[in-house]
Amino acid sequence: MINKIKELKDQKGALIIAHYYQASEIQDLADYVGDSLGMAIFAKKTDSRIAVVCGVKFMAETFKVMNPEKKILVPDAGAGCSLADSCTPAVFAYFKSKHPDAYVMTYVNSSLEIKAMSDVICTSANAVKIARQIPSDRKIIFGPDQHLGRFVAKESGRDLILFPANCFVHTSFSAKTLYEFTKVYPEAKIIAHPECEEAILEFADFIGSTGQLLKYTKESDAQSFIVMTESGILHQMRKQCPHKTFIVGPDLSGCSCSECPHMRLNTLEKILLCLQKEQPEICVDKELAQKALIPINRMMEMGVG
Ligand code: 13P
Ligand code: SF4
Repeated sequence: MINKIKELKDQKGALIIAHYYQASEIQDLADYVGDSLGMAIFAKKTDSRIAVVCGVKFMAETFKVMNPEKKILVPDAGAGCSLADSCTPAVFAYFKSKHPDAYVMTYVNSSLEIKAMSDVICTSANAVKIARQIPSDRKIIFGPDQHLGRFVAKESGRDLILFPANCFVHTSFSAKTLYEFTKVYPEAKIIAHPECEEAILEFADFIGSTGQLLKYTKESDAQSFIVMTESGILHQMRKQCPHKTFIVGPDLSGCSCSECPHMRLNTLEKILLCLQKEQPEICVDKELAQKALIPINRMMEMGVG
């Protein structure tokens, strides 16, 4: 299967781009593996005719908006993001109407419609940096993830108006069990994605995007880590530091798998099929894409480099 995918990919001049939350075998196959910001930066640079984006729909749509001339394929068209889907244009328009003068800062985990209603997009890697640059006399609406928003407010010193949505994978972690884990692994550093609830973030030694968490584990002198994010990232952590210990953070069910069911819809079989058929393809409305590109480009100016 892997050889067939590689052969077809080379034959068609296609690239495979994967998020850190993909299954290990998909990460190993990819030409690029990264966090949402890394994927967006990579989108600017890529020059292949076809890209297979292994992540969720908002990532592939962002890729398409930044590369309108390319064919963007996804292994599973149903791989959405429940956080992005919970913020609908009608509800967001109502939320905005309550704060008509506010600057609208929107997490990349959102639909194109929501992006088009925003002033700037951010990822978890650059949200604090961007918030600090928004004129201090402007109120700021932040959506859709309230926990990331709360973290950004704390770090940037800005008072954000938070849209009340969250990611069910990151809010499944249990602070109580995490506390028990700290007794079992007293040496371990706790590292967390900012989509986790405040009670988890308060425990954390380091908070960051998936890419920032990976960098921290490489550079830290610590030998063990309790990882409070989707467990796909542990694959890169273990590859990068095979002698260190990485423990999946405990969730409320006690199963500690911490997998995002949307991300995990992608499989090798679906990648092969999508390369063979060049389907499902991500197609976006031209006018909507042009509107969404404005705040995405603003993110590239304010949040990259
Ligand atoms: P990152 O931008 O940190 O990769 O996170 C994406 C995501 O979907 C988190 O749930
Ligand atoms: Fe969306 Fe949460 Fe899955 Fe990230 S982990 S893609 S925010 S549902």
